[in-house]
Amino acid sequence: MKKFSEIVKEYEERENRIVSPVPDIPIDADAGLNDEQAAALKTLQSGTDCFLSGSAGSGKSFVLRRFIAGRSEQSVLVTAPTKIAAHHLRGKTLHSVFSVPYEEDGILTPQDCAFDDARWEALSQGVKYQRIHDCDTVIIDEISMVRADVFKWVVSYLRAEEARTGHHIQLILCGDFLQVPPVICTEDKEAWRRSYPDNPDGFVFLSPEWRDLNIQTVEIRQNMRQKDKEHAEALEQIRCGDPNGEGRKWIQAHSAREPIANVSTLCATKEEVDCINNAELDKLPGDSVDFETYIPEPAKLRERKMLVGRVLRLKPGAPVITLVNDREGRFHNGSRGVVVSIDPDKDIVRVRMDETGQVIDILPYEWRTYTQFPLALAWALTVHKAQGMTCKAVNIYARRAWEAGQIYVSLSRGQEICSMYIDGDLSLLNFEPNPSVVEFYEREARKAEKLAKANAAS
Ligand SMILES: Nc1ncnc2c1ncn2[C@@H]1O[C@H](COP(=O)(O)OP(=O)(O)OP(=O)(O)O)[C@@H](O)[C@H]1O
Ligand SMILES: [Mg+2]
Repeated sequence: MKKFSEIVKEYEERENRIVSPVPDIPIDADAGLNDEQAAALKTLQSGTDCFLSGSAGSGKSFVLRRFIAGRSEQSVLVTAPTKIAAHHLRGKTLHSVFSVPYEEDGILTPQDCAFDDARWEALSQGVKYQRIHDCDTVIIDEISMVRADVFKWVVSYLRAEEARTGHHIQLILCGDFLQVPPVICTEDKEAWRRSYPDNPDGFVFLSPEWRDLNIQTVEIRQNMRQKDKEHAEALEQIRCGDPNGEGRKWIQAHSAREPIANVSTLCATKEEVDCINNAELDKLPGDSVDFETYIPEPAKLRERKMLVGRVLRLKPGAPVITLVNDREGRFHNGSRGVVVSIDPDKDIVRVRMDETGQVIDILPYEWRTYTQFPLALAWALTVHKAQGMTCKAVNIYARRAWEAGQIYVSLSRGQEICSMYIDGDLSLLNFEPNPSVVEFYEREARKAEKLAKANAAS
């Protein structure tokens, strides 16, 4: 049997170490904005409430980073719906910043989002409130994944702040509604229909809050992630539903014939993620150490919403991703590393972090209704978590995708077509975008055209 030190060495020496996504260009690097990005930045800087949109890889998050770099840390509050997306911008999750009630408890009804005196009293006493009170701009990246009830809560919070203190905060929303939509769990669907009958999919742009805010949409178009023109064009066709099937044909014909070794695999469902992670774990030598999740009150648990499974299987040499922020700052939610050793008696998993090279002891973490190590195997991840990422190479399992946006997001992560493997036949998948989204973009395009005409006339 191989010694553990050999396994880790092998892992580290694997070609290019491309398990992790491509790190973003440092913001002070010499990469200039293209013309439309520069124009978009100006709109953001004008102080108006706006929605920065555009295809995957057009550099929306890149523009946000420039915007953030030009402002003091205190004046901009940076958020995103998932920890990984927030981490890209060194921000925090929308839930954490705005103290949004836990999703484990289901959806928020409009009544839940009312900011009466009692709620205001409770929230405005906290440290988190001070951060909101001190800022001038709130950024929400990956807005397509934010569900309308969470948006209602956030806007109600900002309105309460303005009404009670006179402090207006600019809202910058960023994302692409043709990517991953909000999630409404099966068990919440009925309650959702009752509370939001006019918005069955939970999109923020169909909410009364969006309408009342008078948000200016700014679109950027040039693809900066895929340098190859034909590749970028094929993806744009897929984004728009690929009516002639040309986009998927090009992607399928030019992608890698075989799965690519040692790179992240994107799957539509959590079940597929678990299956791939377990199969990869089995390939490592030695027995796994299995940690059962401690659930003190199983009756109170909504298992589908647990961040971990019932059992966490680990072996030395396994790549892992952390699921929470460390109080001491040694890792964040979404940090990657490799398991170095496991001590089940002392309840310690030792992990070498990719980013810092530091070997740290990770201990079990107490969520509200369960306790487990805040770790997940990281060979595969869901498309949901990959939104916003740029990958040098990637394997894609999209057969079980149920939304066109999921397929588009997975296909648009890789920089080069030859470094992308697709499992299955793309022609069998449904690429048709949600009609409400298509309608929204058509309406915004008409508005932009009208505005351009009015500007030209004046
Ligand atoms: N002006 C630029 N110069 C150089 N590189 C750029 C520029 N704009 C964007 N990029 C790079 O292109 C890639 C895609 O950019 P980014 O992630 O900001 O796109 P996005 O529109 O936010 O995509 P997504 O919709 O997937 O979140 C990143 O690697 C980024 O560093
Ligand atoms: Mg982005």
